[in-house]
Amino acid sequence: MSEVVLGVSGGIASYKAAELLRLFTESGHSVRVVPTAASLHFVGTATWEALSGKPAQSEVFEHVDEVAHVRIGQSADLVIVAPATANTLAKAAHGLADDLLTTTLLTARCPVMFAPAMHTEMWENAATQANVATLRERGCIVLEPAVGRLTGVDTGKGRLPAPEEIYTAALQVLEGRPQDLAGKHVVISAGGTREFLDPVRYLGNRSSGRQGYALAEAAVARGARVTVVAANVGLADPAGVDVLRVVSTEELRRQMHASAVDADAVIMAAAPADFRPAEFVDAKIKKTADHETPEIRLVENPDILVELVTARTSKRPVIVGFAAETGDAQATVIEHARAKLTRKGCDLLVVNDVSAGKAFGRDDNEAVLLGSDGTVEEIPLGPKIDLAHTVLDAVVQRMD
Ligand code: CTP
Repeated sequence: MSEVVLGVSGGIASYKAAELLRLFTESGHSVRVVPTAASLHFVGTATWEALSGKPAQSEVFEHVDEVAHVRIGQSADLVIVAPATANTLAKAAHGLADDLLTTTLLTARCPVMFAPAMHTEMWENAATQANVATLRERGCIVLEPAVGRLTGVDTGKGRLPAPEEIYTAALQVLEGRPQDLAGKHVVISAGGTREFLDPVRYLGNRSSGRQGYALAEAAVARGARVTVVAANVGLADPAGVDVLRVVSTEELRRQMHASAVDADAVIMAAAPADFRPAEFVDAKIKKTADHETPEIRLVENPDILVELVTARTSKRPVIVGFAAETGDAQATVIEHARAKLTRKGCDLLVVNDVSAGKAFGRDDNEAVLLGSDGTVEEIPLGPKIDLAHTVLDAVVQRMD
């Protein structure tokens, strides 16, 4: 099992780090907690020592004979700082080394992950953003903070992601994923859109968003900055991902165009509704006394994937589409998919055979990955996270 260093810096969210520590230790990892002096105002040394079964020191001048400031970083498989305050990010970006955590960050030869938590203003400050960009350029993984209730009555971006989600992201890193998306922006759509007929009824589809979320998790583990445009997804937000919520195809379309502007890869894993009701009725549609059934006229929605391909400028992000196909008398699943890839103009198409209701709402998936360059790769049945990494391997190959 791995040696994990859990750095805890001085934010109110440090109490959540105790939960994160337990997730590591209960799955057999050895964790050394390195709290900053400021963090001890929130959670004391006794908590860290009792939960980790190891000493938890903050300063370099304690137990000097152990040369802890060098040894801890050198022997770690992962250093994770949760919560990472604006101050700790700034010190890390500038190579300051005035306590045990910052010296450990300088001696670490393993992946380093930061889970920032602070008020929105501090996160958005140009200094913090520049420090985050510096750390990412150097190959550190900096998770995007979650959006939600902050310490006071205010809400916004800056919350520490849920400990379970940070743990999942950390496990991906411990599995030794390459940091080949460091410095890249990956935009992923997930879920299924809804088209409202009246204030209570809509046309929708069965997409759960699981594959899109697995792609987001995988891209974070490989060092990317990740934006997910989520259409009606009921799953917990993956740690470190900017999740933008939408409902209808038109909202998804607008958000995808806005997010794709500086993207290096765009993955359309969502299932946008192909059609929407021609009219939206403001009041709930009522049954009539003579049991007349309403006629619903549909109009076609724009194809977002095609639009994103057409809108590509010199930056040329790698664009990936998904296709849920069934074979029929005219053509096989793959023949339909090859024609779709040509029609859509994207670089890669992930093809799911949905003949028997496969792929919906499940944790595993199998697919065929078609490339516009003629490549065909069978992805065997396995967890959606494995499929996600195979897709990202193909994306990375096509970058630059
Ligand atoms: N897609 C899109 N906008 C739409 C419909 C689909 O961007 N209005 C994207 C999906 O996100 C997916 C890909 O296109 O990446 C293929 O979706 P699919 O529903 O299989 O394609 P359609 O063009 O709708 O083809 P079909 O007639 O087989 O439904």
